[in-house]
Amino acid sequence: MTVDIESLLARMTWEQKLLQLQIVWRPSAAEREALIRRGIGSTFWPPSAGETNAAQRIAVEETELGIPLLVGLDVIHGQFTIFPTPLAQAAAFDPAVAELDARVSATEARSAGVNWTFSPMVDVTRDPRWGRVVEGFGEDPYLSSVLTVAKVAGYQGRALDTGDALAACLKHFVAYGAAEAGRDYNTTDVSDRRLRETYLETFRAGVEAGAATVMAAFNALNGIPMHANRALLTGVLKEEWGFDGVVVGDADGVAQLVNHGVVADERAAVVAAIDAGVDIVMGGSLLVDADGVAFVSPDELRVARVDDAVRRVLRLKERLGLFERPYVNASTASTSATERYRELARQAAERCTVLLTNDGALPLPQTGRVLLAGPYARSLDHLGTWVQHFASPVTESLADALATELPHVDWEVVDGCGFFDATDAAVAEAVERAAGADLVVLAVGEPSRISGEASSRADITLPDAQRRLIHALADAGARVVVVLATGRPLVVEDWIERVDATLCVWHLGSEAPAAIARTLSGRVSPGGRVPMTFPRAVGQVPIHYDHERTGRPPRTGGALLPETIAGFTGPNNTDDYYTSKFLDLPLGPRFDFGHGLAYTTFALDGFEMSRTVVSASEAEAGIDATVRVTNTGDRTGDDVVMLFVTDEVASVTQPVRRLRGFTRVTLQPGESVTVAFRIEADHLRFWADGQHRVLEPGDFTLTVSDCTTEHRLGVRLEEAA
Ligand code: GLC
Repeated sequence: MTVDIESLLARMTWEQKLLQLQIVWRPSAAEREALIRRGIGSTFWPPSAGETNAAQRIAVEETELGIPLLVGLDVIHGQFTIFPTPLAQAAAFDPAVAELDARVSATEARSAGVNWTFSPMVDVTRDPRWGRVVEGFGEDPYLSSVLTVAKVAGYQGRALDTGDALAACLKHFVAYGAAEAGRDYNTTDVSDRRLRETYLETFRAGVEAGAATVMAAFNALNGIPMHANRALLTGVLKEEWGFDGVVVGDADGVAQLVNHGVVADERAAVVAAIDAGVDIVMGGSLLVDADGVAFVSPDELRVARVDDAVRRVLRLKERLGLFERPYVNASTASTSATERYRELARQAAERCTVLLTNDGALPLPQTGRVLLAGPYARSLDHLGTWVQHFASPVTESLADALATELPHVDWEVVDGCGFFDATDAAVAEAVERAAGADLVVLAVGEPSRISGEASSRADITLPDAQRRLIHALADAGARVVVVLATGRPLVVEDWIERVDATLCVWHLGSEAPAAIARTLSGRVSPGGRVPMTFPRAVGQVPIHYDHERTGRPPRTGGALLPETIAGFTGPNNTDDYYTSKFLDLPLGPRFDFGHGLAYTTFALDGFEMSRTVVSASEAEAGIDATVRVTNTGDRTGDDVVMLFVTDEVASVTQPVRRLRGFTRVTLQPGESVTVAFRIEADHLRFWADGQHRVLEPGDFTLTVSDCTTEHRLGVRLEEAA
């Protein structure tokens, strides 16, 4: 159905236009009805299809213009069926997992009346102190961009006006993940070059993929709060990239311009934000009061800008099919997870776990005496952050799931400690029970309440109580397998080498316990990879694999470590002393980007390129690379083969390597497969500054790696043809 937007716009008063540019953050039912009768254009989801239809009916049938509502909600990793958190999904290195979550979420949510999700969060970040790393795809712009595109495809489907599509929302524009000190909402200051290369890239990919909306970020960037950043909201997003969708402010982000100190009052904040390119204001003062009086006048705010914003909103509603079909079928609306969707959520969860270490303790034996301990033994807290109250709950604990999965094991279960508390008696009991067991499964981690928004942590270790239990069991000589549930990379340095295996399970959603149990038993082989570096200490942060060389790259570190300090005699003139390192840490992170083990082993060989000397035009046509992967072990397993590019000499400093391709393969014992990559000129380009993206001739090194084995080949790009 084509709507005559221009004639509708021509009929609208100033007040009616402003009302289309606002969504009130979680109003009460009474407030919502009053706002809709006043003519507001958007609302948060009233938590049922019936209430949504009632809201739409007021908007469509009981207001002068009859314009249907955008109905928004944070459907971040599930509506009723909850999938693994986005960071866990990134660990799968499989865009199909991200797209599946978005597809199921859109189907469940749209059927219930939601038509706009404030997802995906596509903020790249290198700082695990920031609680919101859980909502994004980690530290790498390439992986994050691939998953952004998958999410947009999953949410928006083949067209927005079908009954199972949601308008996606790329957030938070931009560089929110670069908050200084990893402290949420904090200042960000990023060079134009890094802004382009690292932080804008995922948004560009999402806009290119057709994302319908973008959300402005809370942070100030280089002195300009994003809600008033015209150069980026309009200059880059709308003009340079041609984004024709809707920019929504974050919750009270417009009003908070006053706190940033760039405007004197909320009236000026509204003017600054809408003028900069915000189209819908979320929360904050009302743009039109209960008496129908507009908060700002046409003398204060460019009418042409307001008309542009209203057009964008009306076009989105038209694309969503809301003018034609504003109502949903409440009798068939989803209200809870179905068995089928739970099965899909479990399959997704099984692809997200990462085997960090394993001395052979995993997979678990099928018989024998095993003690299960730790706060996650019985906790149901697996859904993760950003889950709405109506989501279907986890229905079994890890203890239940393990008893089902390994029925011939003689299980014992003790808490040993809580998430944040440990008594001498509880720890002693766990140690005593461990003495009678062949092995201990110790289920520990971050509860979801300390993950997500406003959850930055200065100390990213496990809580002391849990570390106390780990050390007590290790001191007693127990054989320990750690199951680590977490919203972020943690510092595990003090215990990781004292236990026999560690499986990182993030927060895996509705079917987490079953997925974890099936992985521990070996029915499923863990195949995930770390999408964000695990530092050795919070003092290493920010730390990421695609760092630049510096003028003094180190080869050794750790002179002050217990095992080396005796020999440390102070600064010396060896050629490795005055280099970029920490005296009190070994070099590098605990687990690098891409790290992950399996229950089998793999070999890479036969790395070949179609050409090793190319002209610029040949590079534009693409270079083909292949490598053979073989399962050299005795169990089926997944390997993730990644392709990295290194520009050996360039006009500006370059990362030591950049991810430019990845493929996850499942191989039977002895099976081989050839993985193919296509390297295009765009994979070799980089931003020389904030304005110029360049392709420079010279030598490049291509590395294929499954983070256990690596092979390299050189490619020379000749002068441009
Ligand atoms: C929050 C978040 C944003 C979310 C919005 C609406 O503060 O920053 O990600 O979409 O409010 O709930």
